[in-house]
Amino acid sequence: MAKPIRVAITGGAGQINYSLLFRIANGDLFGPNQPVAINILELPVAMKALEGVVMELEDCAFPLLTDIVATDDINVAFKDVNWVLCVGSKPRGPGMERGDLIRENGPIFTSTGKAISKNAASDVRIVVVGNPCNTNCLIAMNNAKDIPNDRFTALTRLDQNRATTQLAIKAKVSVNDIKNMAIWGNHSATQVPDYCNVTIKGKPAIDVIKDMDYLQKDFINTVSKRGAAIIDARGKSSAASAAGAIVDHVKSLTTPTPKGEVISLCVSSNGNPYGIAEGLIFSFPCRSNGKGDWQIVPGFKVDDFLKGKIKATEKELLEEREVIKDLLS
Ligand code: NAD
Ligand code: LMR
Repeated sequence: MAKPIRVAITGGAGQINYSLLFRIANGDLFGPNQPVAINILELPVAMKALEGVVMELEDCAFPLLTDIVATDDINVAFKDVNWVLCVGSKPRGPGMERGDLIRENGPIFTSTGKAISKNAASDVRIVVVGNPCNTNCLIAMNNAKDIPNDRFTALTRLDQNRATTQLAIKAKVSVNDIKNMAIWGNHSATQVPDYCNVTIKGKPAIDVIKDMDYLQKDFINTVSKRGAAIIDARGKSSAASAAGAIVDHVKSLTTPTPKGEVISLCVSSNGNPYGIAEGLIFSFPCRSNGKGDWQIVPGFKVDDFLKGKIKATEKELLEEREVIKDLLS
C-alpha cells in the first residue's frame, strides 16, 4: 500500500463536512488505491458533535482510511498534512452577501495561515472554501510566510459546475458535452461565467445557443445567484454540492487537465496574462499538470460586455482587500 496522504479539514461538525468527510474517506479525492488519513479541526463548542461524526466515519469501515485525528488544537490539526481544506467558518443567511461575512470570518484565516506555515508538510496545498473564499484565501496566504503563494487556491468549482449544468439544460445536451466553462473573478454575485469561450460539443456556445439575451442575463444571473437561491429554498447554504465541488477541485489538481480543456480555480494573480491586479485571489481559466500545480491559461478572449463585468469583479475584490488590510501581515 502507498503511504497515506494526510488531509486536514476544518469545521468538521458542519454541514459541508457531513458530506465531504465521507467522500474523502471513500477514496473519491485521491482514487481507489490511495490510503488517506484525516485530521479534523473543530471549535471546542462543537467537539461533542464532531465525536458523533467520527463515530459514523468509523462505522463505515472505509478500507482506505488509516486514521482520524479529531481536535480543537489548530497546531495538532495541521501537523504534517499534505492538504488543508479550509471549510470551517460561518455561512451567510438569507438576504446577506458572502462579503458581509468578511470581518467575522477573515480573522480565522490569519491563524490558519500561521498554523499551516508552522506545522504542515513541505508539499502542502491549501483550498479555501469558507466565505468570502477569495479574500479569506488572500488572508491565509499572506499569513503563511513559509509557504509559496501558488499552493493556495480558493473554490469557484461550484460555480463552474452550476454554469455547466445550466448550459447543458438550455442546449439539451449532456454535461459531458460542455467544455472550458471558465469563471472569472470573485466567488460572489459579481462573478463572471464566461459564455465567450465555453464550447458545446466542440462548438462555441454562442453559436449553439444563438441567444445573447439569455447568455448575458438569465445564464449569468442564475449562476451568480444560485447560492442565494439555495439558501432561500433550503434555509441553509449549499452543502452536498459544495462538497462535490471540493472533491472536483482537488481531483482537477491531482489529475492532468485533458488537452485543450480548462478548469476554474481562484489563484494568486501576478498581473499576467490578463492584467488583473497583482496579489488578488482571482478565478481564472487554469490547467494542472496533475501534481498539484496550476497555470493560468492565456489567450481567452471575451466581448466588451464580459470585459466590463471582469473589471467590476476585480474592483469588488480590491474593495474586500481594503476592508481586511489589517489582517495581511
Ligand atoms: P456550518 O455552519 O454548517 O459549519 C461550519 C463549521 O465550522 C461549524 O461546525 C463551526 O463550528 C466550524 N467552525 C467555525 N469557525 C471555526 C474555526 N475557526 N475553526 C474550526 N472550525 C470552525 O457551515 P457550512 O454550511 O459547512 O459552510 C462552511 C463555509 O463554507 C461557510 O463560510 C459557507 O459560506 C462556505 N461555502 C463556500 C462555498 C464555495 O463554493 N466557496 C460553498 C458552500 C459553502
Ligand atoms: C454557494 O455558492 O452556494 C456558497 O458560497 C454558499 C453561499 O453563501 O451562497
